[in-house]
Amino acid sequence: MNKITNSTIFVSGGAGFIGSYVTEELLTHNPKKIIILDNLIRGSHENMKGFIGDARVEFIEGDIRNKELLEKCISQADYVFHMAALRINSCAANPEEGFGVMLQASFDVAQLCVKYKVKKVIYSSSASVYGLAQHFPTPETDNPYDNQTFYGGAKLWGEQLFRSYKFMYGLSYVALRYFNVYGARMDTDGKYTEVMIKWLDCVRDKKQPAIFGDGSDSMDFVHVKDIAHANILSLLSDADDEVFNVGDQVETNLKQMLEALLKVNNCQLEPVYMPVNTVNPVSRRLADISKAEKLIGYKPSISLEQGLKELSNWYFEKQKLKTI
Ligand SMILES: NC(=O)c1ccc[n+]([C@@H]2O[C@H](COP(=O)([O-])OP(=O)(O)OC[C@H]3O[C@@H](n4cnc5c(N)ncnc54)[C@H](O)[C@@H]3O)[C@@H](O)[C@H]2O)c1
Repeated sequence: MNKITNSTIFVSGGAGFIGSYVTEELLTHNPKKIIILDNLIRGSHENMKGFIGDARVEFIEGDIRNKELLEKCISQADYVFHMAALRINSCAANPEEGFGVMLQASFDVAQLCVKYKVKKVIYSSSASVYGLAQHFPTPETDNPYDNQTFYGGAKLWGEQLFRSYKFMYGLSYVALRYFNVYGARMDTDGKYTEVMIKWLDCVRDKKQPAIFGDGSDSMDFVHVKDIAHANILSLLSDADDEVFNVGDQVETNLKQMLEALLKVNNCQLEPVYMPVNTVNPVSRRLADISKAEKLIGYKPSISLEQGLKELSNWYFEKQKLKTI
């Protein structure tokens, strides 16, 4: 028995990559009901395969910008995971839409959570709030002034929105700054497909994988199941009015990452180097996760090698199904 047991939980964006894992883990704690609102712009029925037939899950295909629909969902909820968002490149391509989804809809979520006395909100933020951080490993106290992206700005505003609603109305919340999340169910077909998937496409097609830049740009890769678990820990813990980094605290540069991916796939391809992507000009990421360790008991459990094996198996299974 814990907070989740017999509770009604609303997950915006629950058909997405991370949201589907959060839903799966929530179900292991016997909630009364989980309501998912997702317009499937990136999420899918495939992602929800493991739970869509579960009588405790209600999936509503719709837009979080539809306030009536949002109110219908939040009016029933004890707890809210607010995960629906546009990707960084989509925000850059269409800031007006970014405003509607990232800012206006998050504002509506906060208003409705106060109106219906939601007990706690877990907000999906991002390491993008830092831009290029000042310190490595980066603590939560690093300043966000180097962020240059609309997406990072919107996520920071979301954190501040919930912070001000805590201060003004007592709404409890935790914001989680995810670093570079990977794992099965990553988008494989989208325009902004993550680099690992593009590299797996190259392994499949025996083509040279592209590295943007000289390969020294680094990321802090964290497995999606560890991200989902951080969400559950944030809800179950007493943490309130807090923001936590969620990463692995392991820095891996693109060259090392490609080598690791090729190794788990027994593949010897040479990379081709291309000019850097300009939407997100951040050359280094490394999370300091000590605050999350201390306050919510977060500890990443899946190594990069293990995670890449699992990702590759999932990817090639999916390719097989495509050819049947
Ligand atoms: N994946 C990462 O590396 C990463 C890193 C930092 C932060 N995040 C954040 O984590 C959250 C989940 O990300 P994800 O990786 O699962 O991405 P995702 O795109 O798979 O999930 C987002 C979900 O929101 C849905 N959605 C988008 N706009 C919507 C709208 N207007 N109405 C209803 N649903 C809508 C999408 O269909 C999708 O299912 C997001 O808030 C994202 O910004 C992700």
